[in-house]
Amino acid sequence: MRAGPKGAIKAEPLDLSGWPTSRAQRRERFISEFLITPKGVGAREPFSLRPFQREIVRGAFAPGIRTALVSLPRGNGKSALAAALALAEMFVGPDSAEVLVVASDMRQAQIVLRMARRMVELNPVLRERVHVYADRLVLPENDAILLPLPAEPGALHGHDPSLLIVDELHVVTGEVWEAVTSVSGKRPESLTLAISTPASSPDSVMWSLVKHGRSGQDSAFYFKEYAAPEGCAVDDRKAWRLANPALSCRRPFLSEDGLEAVRKTISEARFRQLRLGQWVTGVESWLPWGAWDACTTRRAVQRRERVVLAFDGSASGDSTALVGCTLDGFIWVEGLWENPGDQRWRVPRGDVDRAVDMAFETYDVLELAADPWGWRSEIEAWAQRHGEKRVLEWNTAHAARMAPATDRLYQAVVTGQVSHDGDRRLAAHVAHCVAKRTPMGDLVSKDKRGSPRKIDAAVAAIVAYDRAQWHINNKPRKKAKGFK
Ligand SMILES: Nc1ncnc2c1ncn2[C@@H]1O[C@H](COP(=O)(O)OP(=O)(O)O)[C@@H](O)[C@H]1O
Ligand SMILES: [Mg+2]
Repeated sequence: MRAGPKGAIKAEPLDLSGWPTSRAQRRERFISEFLITPKGVGAREPFSLRPFQREIVRGAFAPGIRTALVSLPRGNGKSALAAALALAEMFVGPDSAEVLVVASDMRQAQIVLRMARRMVELNPVLRERVHVYADRLVLPENDAILLPLPAEPGALHGHDPSLLIVDELHVVTGEVWEAVTSVSGKRPESLTLAISTPASSPDSVMWSLVKHGRSGQDSAFYFKEYAAPEGCAVDDRKAWRLANPALSCRRPFLSEDGLEAVRKTISEARFRQLRLGQWVTGVESWLPWGAWDACTTRRAVQRRERVVLAFDGSASGDSTALVGCTLDGFIWVEGLWENPGDQRWRVPRGDVDRAVDMAFETYDVLELAADPWGWRSEIEAWAQRHGEKRVLEWNTAHAARMAPATDRLYQAVVTGQVSHDGDRRLAAHVAHCVAKRTPMGDLVSKDKRGSPRKIDAAVAAIVAYDRAQWHINNKPRKKAKGFK
């Protein structure tokens, strides 16, 4: 079939009289009456929704639902289901239905368009009603459109989607997700449907939304997750079937042989993430999955509270962090200066200087431990202003010191002895830490040299926690004399 506009459409609009009014039922009926499987198992046969897919459609299109997130491993028909729902939206959705497909990049977004186009081509009833263009589908009888968009915040402006599909949310950035949420919800009824395998890092939009979904507190949010049970063996076939409904449903369209073949070619961590729907960090990741999150607490640092500060400064491209720790192990970010992605950016030294002075004014600072690299003259000035005894150099490149400090924070995190306020920037830096094994113990490092995945705030947190522990154990301050 040629791409581009056809002549005038002569076919009558689909006769929908007697169709159910329920959003989910209309879509289920449209899919079973009009759609053909575009490729793979069952290609050219009617596209029959499996029970798990019906459950998803009913959940996502239930009254009042505005956002739906479905976490499903690869090959379970996420893109195909999205394509089917996109076409259903055009034909049996609201007037002037606008279906947008957003993904991490244009290629991914085109997958859904291509599947939808193929479904149109395979059924003459649809074919004679839809204008097929290279970059969109248009259905004049309902003034409906299906449009893939690049995942740039700007691209979404001015749209008014009735259905916004995010295919593979796990690689979508925070800015794009913000644009998605700001553009949707203008109509009385609309749905943002995100379908994805898990992300590989807790520093992701997907993980925030999964936590939101798991909490079950948002009645406008539908969440469905298919995953193997935590801690299962990687070759546990029963776990495979739990995670992959397309494998265990009637007339499966995924096979165990296929999965077994994949298992031999990718790492265990990737297999668990992509094929078992599990949230796992890569093998080298410093902290176990979810451990940092689990230490979140509500707590404010009091004025004049006794604290330790740690400073990890950068001379140029990296970020500069000032992190504090109280004597009961609460860590917070006092200041973080990050390059917004501009090559010419230089850390605003004056701002950093003022933040340090301010911290000394606000808290009872027992110590500021500062990494000297590139900041020696500032550190000397701080020592002069705030006391030689309170401002110390702490070389974070010194493995013999850094390894035990790193281990100390690790132990405190996994045993829940440390806490923090959930600061997103600090959580991101912690998530970026990769464990580097050394004879002295683990160190943290970036995933690669020059990587934009900064870890400076995490390094400062390690130092701050270490020094706070030292002050607890070694240097009980003279107590003010009380009255007897
Ligand atoms: N009922 C069905 N639902 C979804 N996909 C199906 C179904 N029956 C067969 N398939 C085929 O299974 C494959 C699913 O792949 P895809 O949608 O790309 O999975 P994912 O996006 O989850 O990785 C496609 O080739 C699709 O045509
Ligand atoms: Mg897909």
